[in-house]
This record gives sequence, structure tokens and C-alpha cells, in this order.
Amino acid sequence: MMYVTAPNARAFVENVLAGNGVPRKNAIIIARGLVEADLRGVDTHGINRIPSYMARIRQGVLDPRAAPTLRQVTPAVAQVDGHNGFGFLAAHMGMAKAIEIAEEVGIGLVSVKHSNHFGMSAWVVQQALDAGMVSLVFTNSSPAVPVWGGKSKLMGVSPIACGAPAGKGRPFIVDMAPSVAARGKIHKALRRGEKIPKDWALDKEGKQTDDPAKALEGVMLPIGGPKGSALAIMMARNSCQDVFAGVLSGSAFAGHVTNPYDPSKPADVGHFLVALKPDLFMSLEEFKQRMDYLYGRVIGSDRMAGTDRIYFPGEIELLMKEERLHDGIPLVQAEVEALNKESQRVGAQSISVSSCPVKSRL
Ligand SMILES: NC(=O)c1ccc[n+]([C@@H]2O[C@H](COP(=O)([O-])OP(=O)(O)OC[C@H]3O[C@@H](n4cnc5c(N)ncnc54)[C@H](O)[C@@H]3O)[C@@H](O)[C@H]2O)c1
Repeated sequence: MMYVTAPNARAFVENVLAGNGVPRKNAIIIARGLVEADLRGVDTHGINRIPSYMARIRQGVLDPRAAPTLRQVTPAVAQVDGHNGFGFLAAHMGMAKAIEIAEEVGIGLVSVKHSNHFGMSAWVVQQALDAGMVSLVFTNSSPAVPVWGGKSKLMGVSPIACGAPAGKGRPFIVDMAPSVAARGKIHKALRRGEKIPKDWALDKEGKQTDDPAKALEGVMLPIGGPKGSALAIMMARNSCQDVFAGVLSGSAFAGHVTNPYDPSKPADVGHFLVALKPDLFMSLEEFKQRMDYLYGRVIGSDRMAGTDRIYFPGEIELLMKEERLHDGIPLVQAEVEALNKESQRVGAQSISVSSCPVKSRL
């Protein structure tokens, strides 16, 4: 393992993006979203996505210079057109607008079309939390999950994310794909030469596999067997994700979103973002007290055998962030090499890594 500090990771990403034609102010937003994923331990959606995003720019299917545009639809509703630029920019503009509207009228709803992959949904939830807002964040994605009993890709692994601020306790942040594991975890295992658990995916013959390369030729498995499959059909195909982020937004839907690792055509991803003021029905103080009570009830619950600690949704990632802000973000040699290939292509500086956790050098 090698370690990179968050500021060095952000600087590296900003320089590679700028070298690929992304305006510096936009590169800062994208780098922040990617490094936030690494800090939270969601390494699948962090800076290691840079080579695939840059490949999309080189193939001409992602516009590095595109700036999203905004249209007010009603006092509570707005629409962002991502113009095939980075999903991070369209989602960032969309959530900023949802927050601004919610501050005025209590709830802000923004639909985003013609966007791209925006990485980890939790950074958009965090943007709302930083403004003291409750939020819902949906995005659609390319097909990767079969229906239960099927073996071909039919539904997306579109994550469902939601956040609510707290008082003294930790905020609530759920951010989950409707598959047993996000597909990015398979890409990560492949990059790191690791096997995957056999209940994550099927190979192209429809057989369980622990080989990430074979899993990528096959399909991801939905959470909870037939129940998760039914939920995924409801969520990803017919309800929240695809109807809200796809049909409603004016973006691709019904299996037509392009995989971020497929550089053959624009992805045309849609997002659906909601910000809600927490003090609509009671004072802010009372809301926060109630969230803290919920947090205490959850983490203080009787534990099942073998469980040392109960975590609130999002808490593991926040603890990881504290650790990685201190120790740095771990990367394997192959990941460092793939990142440096990107910096070399545009004459930017290599990523600055250390061979031991940062704190052990202090
Ligand atoms: N942009 C896209 O198209 C896309 C597609 C798929 C996934 N993703 C991202 O992939 C990431 C990973 O998704 P995932 O489904 O593999 O997440 P995950 O399974 O690692 O975590 C899902 C949720 O469960 C909570 N959790 C995990 N362990 C817990 C525990 N022991 N106690 C309490 N809560 C716990 C986490 O805080 C999180 O909110 C997400 O950030 C998601 O946004 C993005």
C-alpha cells in the first residue's frame, strides 16, 4: 500500500482534469467529490475513476468544457441540463439550487438531464447536510442487475441516497446500490488482483463466480434475493430511479444509460435531487433533538451475538473519513501507475504518495 493525503489527491486530480481541458473552477468541484469518496472509504468511486473518465474525454463522449445550465420551472422546481459535461458539476449545481429554493419555500426539487456519472451519491447528500438540509439524491445508471432467476442485465444499480442533519449525534446518511455490492467494488477487486465474495455476481453463463473479470462479463446480484429483485424492479425500473431520474428528467432510461467504462457513446445520465428544510413542522432544535434520540436508540440497541458495535447509517464512512484525513488514502501500486499514466499524458505532476500512513511519519 501507498498513501496520499487528501490535499495532494485533490491537487493531482485538479491538474489532470485541467490538463484535459476542464476549467479550473470545475476541476475543483470534481476533485472534491472524488476525494470525498476515497476519504469515506468508498474507494470504488474515488480518484481511481480518473482513467475511465479521461478515456471518455479522449473518445469524445464526455465534454470536459461543458457547463451545466439552469431553468426555473416553478417556484419550487428547477431543471439542470448537464450538456454532457461531468455529472459532478450538474449534480453540484442542481443541489445548490435545490437548497436555495428550499431556504425560500421549504422544499426544492431539481431534475437533471444529459449528465454523466457523478461517483458516490453521499457527496451530494453532504452538500445538503452542510447547508443544514434533509435530502434525497437519486441517479439512474447503466443496466447491470438481472431480475431474480434471470442472467442478463436488465436493471441499473442506481443508488438510493438520503440524508438528515443531527444535533450532537452523527447525521443520517444512507447511500446504497440495490445490488449486493456496487459494481465499482468488482472493478476495485480486479484492479487489486483480489477475489470477490461468491454472492456478489454471476458470470456470463449465469453461474456464481469469485473472479472479478468474469463477474464484469456477467451481472451483479440484487440485494435480498427475490425480494431485492422486486425492489430493484420497482426502484430502478418503474419508480424512483428510472422514472424520476430518467423518464421525468428527459435523460436516457429503460436500460439506455451508457456504462461509465464504455467509451462508445455519451452516457445521458439523469439525477433527481430534493432538499427539504428540517424545521418545517417543528423548531430546528426540536428536530435535531429528535434525530439525536433516534441515533441513540439505534446505536444503543441490544446487540446480536458476535456484534461489538451498532452503527448509524453513514457512520462507518464518517469514522473512516476521520481516519483517512489523518493517515492518508491507501492506493496499491497498480492504481498509482494508472493514475500517473494519466498525469504523464497531459504533462501534469505525478501523484505524491508515501510508503507508510501519514501519521506514522509525523
Ligand atoms: N453513480 C452511480 O451510478 C453509482 C452506482 C452504484 C453505486 N454507487 C455508489 O457506490 C457506493 C457504494 O454502494 P454500496 O451499495 O456498495 O454501499 P455499501 O453496501 O457499502 O453501504 C450501503 C449503506 O449501508 C450503510 N452501512 C454499511 N455497513 C453498515 C453497518 N455495519 N451498520 C450500519 N450501516 C451500514 C452505509 O453507511 C451505507 O449508507 C455508494 O456511495 C453509491 O453512491 C454509485
